[in-house]
Amino acid sequence: MLPVRPAIAALTPYVPGEQPDGTFVKLNANENPYPPSPRVLEAVARATGDQVRLYPDALSRALRAVAARAFGVGQDWVIAGNGSDDVLTMIVRTFLDPGDTIAVVDPTYTLYETLAAMQGAHARRYPLTEQWELPEAFFGAPAQVTFLPNPNAQTGTLFSAAAIRRLCAAAQGVLVLDEAYAPFAGVTYLPLVREFPHLIVLRTLSKSHALAGLRVGFGVAQPDVIALLMKVKDSYNLNAISQVAGIAALEDTRYVEERIAAIVRTREAFARALAERGWELVPSAANFVLAAPPGGQAREVVVALEQRGYLVRHFATPRLERYVRFSIGTDEQMDGLVAALDACRATWSP
Ligand SMILES: Cc1ncc(COP(=O)(O)O)c(C=O)c1O
Repeated sequence: MLPVRPAIAALTPYVPGEQPDGTFVKLNANENPYPPSPRVLEAVARATGDQVRLYPDALSRALRAVAARAFGVGQDWVIAGNGSDDVLTMIVRTFLDPGDTIAVVDPTYTLYETLAAMQGAHARRYPLTEQWELPEAFFGAPAQVTFLPNPNAQTGTLFSAAAIRRLCAAAQGVLVLDEAYAPFAGVTYLPLVREFPHLIVLRTLSKSHALAGLRVGFGVAQPDVIALLMKVKDSYNLNAISQVAGIAALEDTRYVEERIAAIVRTREAFARALAERGWELVPSAANFVLAAPPGGQAREVVVALEQRGYLVRHFATPRLERYVRFSIGTDEQMDGLVAALDACRATWSP
């Protein structure tokens, strides 16, 4: 018998969105439908043999300096991760022992729970209200770490400024505010790290900057918290190419802002198209839309769309099973998707 830790033997691993070959229109993993800034590909092409031969800067200093400027904080307030998932891993390593508790809302990004389980910690789930708002008991929930994406994953809903402030003031232990989708909402609570020493804000270049394949994310917090996370990070956690690509992506703010604006416009047009067809929409501030088809046959819709070359996401959980989650693509992709929905309506509609 292998000496497997009980926490790992019992673990249900996280299931990422499928990454199939190029024959599908991929609207299942909230990726950016546009290429990254041309400056990113130029920076990657300029990479030298030495950048590949030698180890990268273990502290990602140049990248953190650019990110810190973009976030309006000092460099020692920022840690870089191999995607923001890597920063989540550092957080659970730093703050969770076996038997500890994390607080999460339901539904939300399920990786929080998976990473906590790897530490032998367990999650207490707080169901969102009917209007997808924070339940009263979530404020000050007894937990070593509280995780909340804003906008929320899976629902796309944005929590109010008053709710976030109240949560910061009430949270026990560490509060992780995951702003993976914040650029699409045009709202950030990152400046609150100055006021709250137990707050860690996460950002990623995967979605807003179209860098999901290169894996660049950040944690922003007060310097003593960053110093703790630095202790547990993998030694060379960000490869050399991702570091230069991240810098180029962050520097081309105009390109990024234009693409974000385009995605938001497409999201609104797509939401209107679904509403006109009788779908029930969850108001989204992210780069995806969660919506329930008339008749509630969400799984059937997903299967019918897949047969027509469109990959979208279904979550078979009690709160989400009526819904389909559509990542926002280009206008052309979303027009094609709506046409496919109209064409296959007979296969799932009551
Ligand atoms: C809420 C949330 N946080 C973090 C991530 C992961 O981001 P990254 O690609 O930076 O690891 C995702 C990815 O879907 C997400 O939905």
